[in-house]
Amino acid sequence: MKKICIIGGCGHVGIPLGLALASRKFNVTLVDINEDAVKKINNCVLPFKEEGAENILKAHISKNLVAVTDKAKIKEQDVVIFVTGTPVDEHHNPKVQDVLKVISSYLPLMNKNQLVILRSTIFPGTTELITRLLKEHFGLANLAFCPERILQGKGVEEIFNLPQIIAAVSEEAYREAEGIFSLISPKIIRLESKEAELVKLITNTWRYLEFAAANAFYMMVENDGVDFYKVYNALKEDYPRAANFPKAGLAAGPCLFKDTMQLSAYYQNNFFLGQSAMLINEGLPNFLVMQLEKKIGSLVNKNIALLGMTFKANNDDIRESLSFKIKKLLEFKMAKVLIHDPYVDNISPLDEILEKAEGIILGTPHNEYKQIYPKVPFVDCWGLWYKD
Ligand SMILES: NC(=O)c1ccc[n+]([C@@H]2O[C@H](COP(=O)([O-])OP(=O)(O)OC[C@H]3O[C@@H](n4cnc5c(N)ncnc54)[C@H](O)[C@@H]3O)[C@@H](O)[C@H]2O)c1
Repeated sequence: MKKICIIGGCGHVGIPLGLALASRKFNVTLVDINEDAVKKINNCVLPFKEEGAENILKAHISKNLVAVTDKAKIKEQDVVIFVTGTPVDEHHNPKVQDVLKVISSYLPLMNKNQLVILRSTIFPGTTELITRLLKEHFGLANLAFCPERILQGKGVEEIFNLPQIIAAVSEEAYREAEGIFSLISPKIIRLESKEAELVKLITNTWRYLEFAAANAFYMMVENDGVDFYKVYNALKEDYPRAANFPKAGLAAGPCLFKDTMQLSAYYQNNFFLGQSAMLINEGLPNFLVMQLEKKIGSLVNKNIALLGMTFKANNDDIRESLSFKIKKLLEFKMAKVLIHDPYVDNISPLDEILEKAEGIILGTPHNEYKQIYPKVPFVDCWGLWYKD
C-alpha cells in the first residue's frame, strides 16, 4: 500500500485525515513540529477532542500509523500532503508567503516522483504559485489541491461522508489523488484549481454570513427589549423556509473569520457583505457586555461569571474564541471576571463560581451548562437557557 506523509499531521485536519487513510490500509506518517502532540499520538492519546477518533487511533498506531518530528523519512514516501495553518495577518490579508515558505523548506527533503497534495484552505491562486515552485525545484509538478471541509471535532465522522473536491495540475496527478480519496469519500468532484480554492473559501464564508445575519437580528431585537428566542422560535415553527436559520452565537474559531477575510482580499476589499459580517460578529461581544450592564448597572467590582471559553460547544479548542474578547471588555469595565469551562484545565469549580456570581454571560453553550438555570441576571445569546 502507498506510503503517505502528512505535514502538519498532528493538527485538527491532519489527525482525522491520517486516521481515515490509515483505516484504508495506507502507511501513514504524521510529520509535525509540535513535539508534545507527536508524543501523545504515539502514546495513543489525542492532543484535542475529536469524536470517534480514539478507536481508530488505537487500531492503527504503531502498525500503519506513526507520528514523527524527524523529517528524514519524507523522501521515501509516495505522497506528501500539506495541512499546515493558513492564517491572515494583522491587516486581515492572507499570509501566502508563509505557505510558500513552509513548502519550500520541505522541497529538499522530497523527491520529484511524489504526488504533492495541498489540503489547507488557501488564497485563490496559491495552487498555481506552488505549481511554479515545484517546477522550479523538480522540473515538474505532480500536484493536486484537495481541500478539507470537515466540521472541527466531527472530522472523523464527516470525512467518510463528504464529497471530495480535487483539482490537479495533470491527468496523472488527478488519477493518483482520486485513487486515494475515492477510498475515503463517497464522491469526487473535479474542478480547476482556482475553482476548488473558491469553493472552500465560499463554503466557510457562507457559514460566517449566516451567523452574522442571525447575530444582527439578535442585537436588533434584544436592543428593543424583546426576547429574540421567542421571535426566533415562532418564525421557525413549521415554516420550512426558515429551517436553516441558525441561532445567534459567538461566531469565531480559526477558520470562518480568516476565510471571509481571504475572500475579501481576493475581491480587492470590495466584499462589503463579508466586511459587514465581520463587524457584526466581532461586535457581538460588546453588545453582550452592554446588555449585562443594562440588567445589573455598573460592572465595577462586580463578580461576573463568564461560562465557556472555547470557540464552539462541547469542544476544547480555544483558538480565536470571542469569549476572550468578552473577558477583556469586562475587565475594562473593572468587573471581577470568573471564567469557567469544563474543557479547559485549571479553572475553579462551577458551583463555586455560580455562588459568587452577580451576573453571568454565556460564552459557549456546552451541554454541561444546560441544567444550570441561573439565579442571577444573565446574558445568553445562544438561547440555551431560553424558557417560554
Ligand atoms: N480546523 C478545521 O476544522 C479545519 C477544517 C477545514 C480546513 N481547515 C484548514 O486546514 C488548515 C490547517 O488547520 P488546522 O485547524 O488543522 O490547524 P492546526 O493548527 O490544528 O494544525 C496545523 C499543524 O501544523 C503543524 N505545523 C506548523 N508548521 C509546521 C511545519 N513547518 N512542519 C510540520 N508541521 C507544522 C502544527 O504544529 C499543527 O499541529 C488551515 O488552512 C485551515 O484553514 C481547518
